[in-house]
Amino acid sequence: MSMEGTTISAAQVQAAVESAGLAPSIHNSQPWKWRLRGDTLELSADLSRALPVIDPDHRQLLVSCGAALLNGWLSLRAAGLDVEVAELPDGPDISTGRLATLQVLGNRPPTEDESRLAAAITQRHTDRRPFGPGAVPADEIRELRHAAEAEGCWLSVLTGEDARVELAVLLARADWFEHHDPHYLAELATWTRTDPDAVDGITWATADPGAKPQYAEFPLRDFTGGAGAGPGPGATGAGAGRADAGPALDDRVEHPEALVLGTDADGPADRLRAGRALGRVLLAATTAGLGTSPLGQAVDIEATRTLVRSATGGAGHAQMILRAGYPDRSVPPLTPTKRRPVSEVLEHVSMT
Ligand SMILES: Cc1cc2nc3c(=O)[nH]c(=O)nc-3n(C[C@H](O)[C@H](O)[C@H](O)COP(=O)(O)O)c2cc1C
Repeated sequence: MSMEGTTISAAQVQAAVESAGLAPSIHNSQPWKWRLRGDTLELSADLSRALPVIDPDHRQLLVSCGAALLNGWLSLRAAGLDVEVAELPDGPDISTGRLATLQVLGNRPPTEDESRLAAAITQRHTDRRPFGPGAVPADEIRELRHAAEAEGCWLSVLTGEDARVELAVLLARADWFEHHDPHYLAELATWTRTDPDAVDGITWATADPGAKPQYAEFPLRDFTGGAGAGPGPGATGAGAGRADAGPALDDRVEHPEALVLGTDADGPADRLRAGRALGRVLLAATTAGLGTSPLGQAVDIEATRTLVRSATGGAGHAQMILRAGYPDRSVPPLTPTKRRPVSEVLEHVSMT
């Protein structure tokens, strides 16, 4: 590859696109493409990887691409490049797929925070393991809130009993709707993988922490499509309410932090920004030793998404719900999801 007359090196481009690829995405769909033009990396949506049932208006696709944009930017910053995230004049355009660019302006040393977050990119994984009882200290929560605010978004922590009960009800309701929707189940099945070497989608080993039964205040997404034997991760089935032998039920119930990440407006640019904020919050959580996983069911459906926002007691739009806590280290880490190779997502465009 000829990179004459450019500031960015081939190795830096490779590393940035690889780091971007490690971002979280809905069902590990990795719905992004990159093009290199001179010193600019252009991010587009790969609409062939859209999820029309769970994400008919591409909101979660934009959130996923925003997280990839943040990782790409962090990788270039950690390499000492001065990089601007440039939004398109009219914002992201789903009809053409064009979303935003990373423009390299020259050289500038990274801040300590940028280096720390960039180093966490390879360490961050969605952690569906049970969390231990330890509460997350207020300082850590403040850091997460600042991470969201650094990208122009907000993070609301559901602390009141009423709000947490409301969230549990909304998640259960969304779960019920989705598991009675054959289109949802068919789409989910196309993104769950039995091949452990699959480079996209979610494998069984990743979706299921294997620690059963787990009693949790909030149900995780069931990637088995309801076909799993016995209660799955975060099950809240009939057994969850029974006082059978063993420690008192309340000692066994997981009570994670419940965080709602949101934006003041809800246009494509806001959703892309929410993805950047999500990426930053998750990396900040990783550096603090926290486990996180989305509780996405309630924001898949517009009606419950609106109610999630009212549960936080504020205005604006919920973009993502996260569970956070300290993972139970006696449960082995989940097998990390894999990614498509850089050669599949990066195109070089000649400037002549
Ligand atoms: C917009 C969005 C929604 C997601 N929703 C859920 C969800 O509802 N439940 C869940 O367990 N994981 C959810 N995830 C996490 C993805 O499944 C995960 O990022 C993907 O499988 C890649 O794995 P990794 O995060 O470990 O790299 C979501 C991620 C994104 C970006």
